[in-house]
Amino acid sequence: MEFFDVIRKRYSHKAAFDPTSRPTDEELRHIVEAGMAAPSAMNLQSPEFVIITEAGLLRQIGEITDNAVLRSAPAMIAVLGNPEAAEAFYREDYAAATENILLAGTALGYSVGWLDGIFRDAAVREPVSALLNIPQDRLLCVVIPVGKPGEEGARRAKKPFEERASWNGYAVRRPS
Ligand SMILES: Cc1cc2nc3c(=O)[nH]c(=O)nc-3n(C[C@H](O)[C@H](O)[C@H](O)COP(=O)(O)O)c2cc1C
Repeated sequence: MEFFDVIRKRYSHKAAFDPTSRPTDEELRHIVEAGMAAPSAMNLQSPEFVIITEAGLLRQIGEITDNAVLRSAPAMIAVLGNPEAAEAFYREDYAAATENILLAGTALGYSVGWLDGIFRDAAVREPVSALLNIPQDRLLCVVIPVGKPGEEGARRAKKPFEERASWNGYAVRRPS
């Protein structure tokens, strides 16, 4: 898929997935390699990744999170931050890696999502972290479901260019 088509096609799939639409291990590896290629502060490469394909783990994550999207996802990628290694920048690092993963998944024809908010609740994050044997010094930041839609998901409009971008000074609407 052409790069700008990928950018346009990416969206956060918040409806059900087709649980049978699991990407191959090779595709998942390819997607995570895109995350690893992201920029990171001081090239510390602080984000780490857990690829989740086992049915039992997927089911338990769906149950713990009680999240409709995760309940049907045929595969997930957990993105871990490393606050000790990259204290000032681990959030930016994991966000850059996450976006690359979303784009790579889209380029391979999958729908993806960025599930972050629910993992800020320790009551959700800690049991999922324990399930995945994530060490105490790593932070489970995002879980990305990857699969084909079971139900059509909403596409969200973006604000017009002129509302968010300007040329050579704030709110200057034309190149000078
Ligand atoms: C930092 C961040 C956190 C997010 N957390 C969640 C989340 O917890 N749950 C969720 O459904 N979507 C989450 N999203 C996805 C946004 O809701 C989504 O990107 C936004 O609504 C725009 O839609 P689009 O991705 O389809 O363009 C998050 C996105 C970002 C960048």
